[in-house]
Amino acid sequence: PSEKGWLVSQMYQYEGSWHTKAMLQGIVNCQKHFEAKDSDIILATIPKSGTTWLKALLFALIHQNKFPVSGNHPLLATNPHVPYLEGDYCVSPDVSFSKLPSPRLMQTHLTHHSLPVSIKSSSCKIVYCCRNPKDVFVSLWHFGKKLAPQETADYPIEKAVEAFCQGKFIGGPFWDHVLEYWYESRKNPNKVLFVTYEELKKQTGDMVKRMAEFLGCGFTAEEEVSEIVKLCSFESLSSLEVNRQWKLPNGIETNAFFRKGETGGWRDTLSESLADVIDRTTEEKFGGSGLNYLLFF
Ligand code: A3P
Repeated sequence: PSEKGWLVSQMYQYEGSWHTKAMLQGIVNCQKHFEAKDSDIILATIPKSGTTWLKALLFALIHQNKFPVSGNHPLLATNPHVPYLEGDYCVSPDVSFSKLPSPRLMQTHLTHHSLPVSIKSSSCKIVYCCRNPKDVFVSLWHFGKKLAPQETADYPIEKAVEAFCQGKFIGGPFWDHVLEYWYESRKNPNKVLFVTYEELKKQTGDMVKRMAEFLGCGFTAEEEVSEIVKLCSFESLSSLEVNRQWKLPNGIETNAFFRKGETGGWRDTLSESLADVIDRTTEEKFGGSGLNYLLFF
C-alpha cells in the first residue's frame, strides 16, 4: 500500500495500477459481472481529466431527441445520470443498469487492460479524455485539500509530485493509463475516440460534433450544438444547486468537482522546478508516442 498523505486514503496496486481499498472489490465485481451491450457508451478517464464535463456533454448529446436542450433538462435537476462502473459495483456485485435511458452511458477510471472483457469484445464505444498531467496533478492536489483538509494540510507538494510521478494516483500511473487508450484509439478508431481537455476547451462545438459523428448520433443544426455547449459549460454546471451538493460515496457533500475549469492553471500552484519534474516524466513516458504535441503548449 502507498502512504496516505495527499491521496487521502491509502492506495493498493491491482493489475499494475493504484486504487483505494474500497474500489478494489468494485473493480473485481465489475470485471466479473458487467455485461456490456453493443449500444453502450463508456467514458474512460483518469480522475481530474474532465470526467464531469464529458459526462454532461455526452449525456446531453446522446439524448438530444429524448431530452431537448431547453426547459427542464434532466442535467439541471438531478445528478448523477452517469453511473461510475467500478464505483457502483463497490456497493454490491448485483448491479442493475436497467433504469438507464438507452443508449447507456457509463463512466470508468479503469485502465484499458483492466476493463471488463465484454467492453472490449462487444461493439460498444469508448470515449477517452486526457488532460495535461500538470493540470491533472494540480486539480487533484486541490481536490484532496477540499475533501480531507486535515490529512492534507501538512503534506508537502514536493512529496505529492514525487508520488504522482511514481504513478501513485487513482488508476495511475497517469502516463500508462493514457498511452494504453491512445494506442487503442490508433489501432481501432471506430471503437475508441481519444479527446483532450485542451481541445475541448479550445473548440468545444467542433469536439461535440466529432463525438456525435463517432457515436453515430445525427446532428444537423449548429444551434443544437451551441445549446449543448452552453448547458454543459463550467459556468452553467457549477452554478447548479444539484452540483453544489454532490454526495461522495462517504456521504460528504461537495462541489469539489468544479474548481477553475481552465487549461494551464497549474502555473498558479506549481513552481518551475516542480513543473519540470512532471515534464521530464512526461517526455520520458510519452517519447515516440506522438502524444506530446497534444499536451504541451
Ligand atoms: P480544475 O480543478 O483544474 O478546475 P473530473 O471531473 O475528471 O474530476 O475533473 C475535474 C476538473 O474538471 C476540475 O478541474 C473541474 O473544475 C473541471 N471541470 C468540471 N466541470 C467542467 C466544465 N463544465 N467545463 C470545464 N471544466 C470542468
